[in-house]
Amino acid sequence: MKVDVLLGLQWGDEGKGKIVDVLTPKYDIVARFQGGPNAGHTLEFEGQKYVLRSIPSGIFQGGKINIIGNGVVLDPALFKAEVEALERSGHDLTKRIYISRKAHLILPTHRILDAAYEAQKGDVKIGTTGKGIGPTYTDKISRNGLRIGDIEQNFEQKYKAAIDRHILILKQMNYDFDLSQLEKEWMEGIETIKRFKLIDSEHFVNKELAEDKKILAEGAQGTMLDIDFGSYPYVTSSNTISAGASTGLGIAPSKIGEVYGIFKAYCTRVGSGPFPTELHDEVGQKMRDFGNEYGSVTGRPRRCGWIDLVALRYAIMVDGVTQLIMMKSDVMDTFESIKACVAYDINGKEVEDFPYSIDENLTPIYAELPGWKTDMTKMQSENEFPEEFNAYLSFLEENLGVPIKIVSVGPDRAQTIIRYDDSAE
Ligand code: GDP
Ligand code: IMO
Ligand code: MG
Repeated sequence: MKVDVLLGLQWGDEGKGKIVDVLTPKYDIVARFQGGPNAGHTLEFEGQKYVLRSIPSGIFQGGKINIIGNGVVLDPALFKAEVEALERSGHDLTKRIYISRKAHLILPTHRILDAAYEAQKGDVKIGTTGKGIGPTYTDKISRNGLRIGDIEQNFEQKYKAAIDRHILILKQMNYDFDLSQLEKEWMEGIETIKRFKLIDSEHFVNKELAEDKKILAEGAQGTMLDIDFGSYPYVTSSNTISAGASTGLGIAPSKIGEVYGIFKAYCTRVGSGPFPTELHDEVGQKMRDFGNEYGSVTGRPRRCGWIDLVALRYAIMVDGVTQLIMMKSDVMDTFESIKACVAYDINGKEVEDFPYSIDENLTPIYAELPGWKTDMTKMQSENEFPEEFNAYLSFLEENLGVPIKIVSVGPDRAQTIIRYDDSAE
């Protein structure tokens, strides 16, 4: 069997968590392959709402194994809080979450360094989630990181060396900090991690594949936040694209099967950085209100704008997307008309290919389609779709060149419409 990958095609928060949960019954294993607690993946079902940060979104359906892969960065303190909250609501996780020994640890000082670097950047700060993601991946690449596997060998010594190095950097930056409380919670988190099965996940995953098991790799963030292909430097510090599933789980590119690309019917972004189709008017505010566009981790209002097909085509290209999933269609239910950016006007030239930089002065060129002005939230099948909505789907499929196989019409697990039933595949 192959590994199917599900990823965000925009700037994150597309609804990955919801769809991973919906798709989990088709799989034996769900695995996160990059990112860390900067992610906030929301799932709603049976009147309950959960926000997952480091735990994969396959945890609620039918006792499946969930893996935290080597490409992930894990904060023990936040992991402990997440585990305990789920256990309090009656979910037994211990036997179902496996953690890669090669995943890197977010140290308490990484969080402080994240804040210190942001403060140093001043006006050009990234607007990070403040979870220590950048500094942890920096240490990984510069070969100074601490890994989950280190917990099993000479841990205290390695921890102290890493922390001392960070303290020196923070002192050189004249950055005031208090480590004691953070460190206490962090050490307690290490004890929580020890309750879980620590594995060489690349071996595990490949053995399972050889035994015909089905694996779903769950992306975090989105393609436009990818360290190589996103709107650099306003990106996260990992490869969020489909290739990240190879390095983040130890699976060869030839083992990747379907690539599900997920996007909102409009577009959002949190934090700083360019956003060509951003709306600062009442239409953008309507998207924020109807879509409840406030960060699931930080609570920050998300910036909202029209769907950007130039950026989406680029994401589909670098990810090799085979199926599209459109989320939050219901947010547009009352709109008179809907715009979609089909090209950029850059200095009077019409550009259809995503350019090196979207920082410069560019104007989106829009196509405008009639809205469907119908409440779609209770629809159960594509046969109920209004004519204008079908026209919108066809327009997108034609422009993007990939079929839209799933349409989401509300946050609940049940508000999901699978088009073209592929159960016979
Ligand atoms: P993720 O990070 O990609 O998993 O997405 P988030 O959970 O951060 O943000 C998506 C938000 O939209 C969450 O609050 C979801 O509950 C919500 N959501 C997901 N799908 C839909 C949908 O089809 N309609 C509406 N109205 N909300 C949705
Ligand atoms: P999910 O998985 C949306 C953004 C931050 C910031 C930039 C860098 O829920 O879609 P970082 O803390 O990673 O160094 O921040 O990336 N960002 C996200 N935006 N959804 C996310 O995750 C994000 N994770 C990071 O807002 O602009
Ligand atoms: Mg999110």
